[in-house]
Amino acid sequence: MAKVVFGMTMSLDGFVNDRNGSVTPLYSLDTLPKQLLEDAIAATGAVVMGRRTFEMAEDPDTYADVYEFQVPIFVVTDRAPARTPKQNDRLRFTFVTDGAEAAIRQAKAAAGAKEVCIVGGPNLGQQLLRAGLVDELQLGIAPILLGAGLRLFEHLGDTAIQLEKVRLVDSGPRTDIWYRMVK
Ligand SMILES: NC(=O)c1ccc[n+]([C@@H]2O[C@H](COP(=O)([O-])OP(=O)(O)OC[C@H]3O[C@@H](n4cnc5c(N)ncnc54)[C@H](OP(=O)(O)O)[C@@H]3O)[C@@H](O)[C@H]2O)c1
Repeated sequence: MAKVVFGMTMSLDGFVNDRNGSVTPLYSLDTLPKQLLEDAIAATGAVVMGRRTFEMAEDPDTYADVYEFQVPIFVVTDRAPARTPKQNDRLRFTFVTDGAEAAIRQAKAAAGAKEVCIVGGPNLGQQLLRAGLVDELQLGIAPILLGAGLRLFEHLGDTAIQLEKVRLVDSGPRTDIWYRMVK
């Protein structure tokens, strides 16, 4: 059964973008090391994203040309866009309008033995963490204190979520940590 990985880059104080909504400061010193990106691409069989994260691309047609994950993409939304963006043999869009859990179910079926990667944002990720649908958390921690922006971890409910650290890569200014969700 496909493992569900929720991966995001955040500032040391827990923000996934700055007070202006920009993610640029998180990547100004360092990006995900090339080998880690290649590993993630090889492991990923399907991607799930929230509508705001999908809209980070100024032109959604560019996903089919340049997005690193050339796999089926499931966008959780209340309403599908009027026109489906450009697709190709490997990257197909599904706009899922019956909730986050349904998106994970469909993504798992599409991923086969590979992983499902949730690429953001916090709104979607928090729903899936609350529902216990995440198997692994992959955090890239950028060496910056943003002080304001969109918080990754809030609205997680009343019960603590126990994690087990399974991997740490300290290759440059940025630190990447993998945690298994203890269920
Ligand atoms: N640092 C990083 O690694 C990273 C990565 C990705 C994104 N980001 C940042 O995160 C921001 C987006 O995060 P976000 O938390 O605001 O948004 P998000 O999780 O990407 O998307 C939230 C939207 O998805 C739709 N949605 C979510 N759950 C739904 C459900 N159960 N049923 C129906 N629709 C649902 C709704 O949009 P509709 O109602 O409009 O359909 C909702 O407003 C980006 O702008 C970017 O700045 C950072």
